[in-house]
Amino acid sequence: MLRAVHGQQSADLRVTPWNGGPVVRPPVWTPPTWLIVLVQVVKFCGRCLRACARHPVLTGLAVGLVVLVARYGWTTAGLVVAGCAGVLGVWAGAHWASFTRFVVWPVWAAWRRAWVYRRHWRSAMVLTGLAVEFCEREYIPRLGRVVCARHTDHVAVHLVSGQEPEQWERASAALAHTFGAISCRVHVAGPRRIWLEFTRTDPLATPVPALDPANPVDLAALPLGVREDGQPWTLNLTGTHVLVAGASGAGKGSVVWSLLRALGPAVASGHVAPWVLDPKGGMELWDGQAMFARFEADSYEAMADLLDKAVELMDERTRRLRGVTRQHEPTPVDPLVLVVVDELANLTAYLQDSGLRKRIGKALSLLLSKGRAVGVHVVGALQDPRKDVLPFRDLFPTRIALRLTEAAQVDMVLGDGARDRGALCDRIPRELPGVGYVLLDGEREPVRVRAAYVSDNDIRAMAREFPSPHRVEIPNTVAGAVPFIPRPREASE
Ligand SMILES: Nc1ncnc2c1ncn2[C@@H]1O[C@H](COP(=O)(O)OP(=O)(O)OP(=O)(O)O)[C@@H](O)[C@H]1O
Ligand SMILES: [Mg+2]
Repeated sequence: MLRAVHGQQSADLRVTPWNGGPVVRPPVWTPPTWLIVLVQVVKFCGRCLRACARHPVLTGLAVGLVVLVARYGWTTAGLVVAGCAGVLGVWAGAHWASFTRFVVWPVWAAWRRAWVYRRHWRSAMVLTGLAVEFCEREYIPRLGRVVCARHTDHVAVHLVSGQEPEQWERASAALAHTFGAISCRVHVAGPRRIWLEFTRTDPLATPVPALDPANPVDLAALPLGVREDGQPWTLNLTGTHVLVAGASGAGKGSVVWSLLRALGPAVASGHVAPWVLDPKGGMELWDGQAMFARFEADSYEAMADLLDKAVELMDERTRRLRGVTRQHEPTPVDPLVLVVVDELANLTAYLQDSGLRKRIGKALSLLLSKGRAVGVHVVGALQDPRKDVLPFRDLFPTRIALRLTEAAQVDMVLGDGARDRGALCDRIPRELPGVGYVLLDGEREPVRVRAAYVSDNDIRAMAREFPSPHRVEIPNTVAGAVPFIPRPREASE
């Protein structure tokens, strides 16, 4: 039965009989010293052989060196070693990327596996509660491969029978501290196998400059920033609405602006028409007005009218497209309408006028439930993700969680269990605006990202470069005076 337990047996904890019966002491036999020494020598040799089998490259090099010295002497061996070092130097100079991939990181990984992980593995497992006791024997999870990259170590672990990845997720903070890492994330690799991702240095510590938009724009891969693994962070806007949640100063503005920037060429060509509401009086989005087909920053009444117009447009499109297509294709005549609301709570919770609040809530929930297929998308920013602030939070299929004030808010934004799976939004420091977590398609674990920072100068330049041909000039001071005058371009334009 014991053999059925997967894991590495590290200690025999037997002090009393297993079934709690009477204590039976076996006769004590003291082996002779020569036998103890012999057993230890055999054990040592076995360990050496195992290590050689585990590191065939190192073993081959060491054996080769010994043979060289024995057959040709120290001078020749020294020349061969110097020659090899020279070849490595030329390789490093000629192609650093492949040199780091095939030489630097594997050597560094072998070193870290032995010195950092192997050396402390048993104590770490016991102290973090991940060692398992069974039949008075102690089993620890088996340490597998270690793969290093510039900022992270990936450590493969074979679980002990009866363990589940969630146990490791709960112990991840303790593991990070134990192994001297900034953070530890758990990725499921398969049955009984996980990868621990230890972050040694923060790859997102420096701000990301505004990214150049692709032209033509790919709505399925809009570049917003970078991911922790160094890959570009892109957003798929097709068939979705986007919620950006984060405390004040978390960098919601940079996500919204990065999205608008990524859409720039499509805005200029008329394929995308941003309808923008800035309930904070224009503090966030004012400078980009030339890019917006419609913009409202002063009057809540006018904002409600604008949302009602979006609902009318959505209903008209639904009637027009049903039976023709199941997904609207944006054209300059019939563009994708992107309703951007900078602070949703101002419209859904803090607005004094309850009639207006209900009207806005109704329009927003209609847009969120029916707009996706007909090319009316909503992008909303929000400080407080509680249900009483945004009752229709769940209608946003795509959610981005930046720094949040409370741990409980993480699951409100990203879904149940997201924080346990590594989305530590409440631990993002204030000094890292634009950093957050997202759930990517098909991935269980949240991914840490940083949005590109679009400066005021970038915004003004964008507004000049990508003006919207659908722009409706609105006298911003006139409350409620939002005319709905679509200005479709000619098909030939
Ligand atoms: N991606 C980023 N990279 C670097 N700095 C950023 C980034 N995003 C924002 N910042 C800095 O953080 C400040 C606050 O950002 P921002 O105004 O976007 O926060 P916010 O979440 O919109 O806050 P609020 O809810 O108060 O409007 C900005 O003035 C800017 O200096
Ligand atoms: Mg803001």
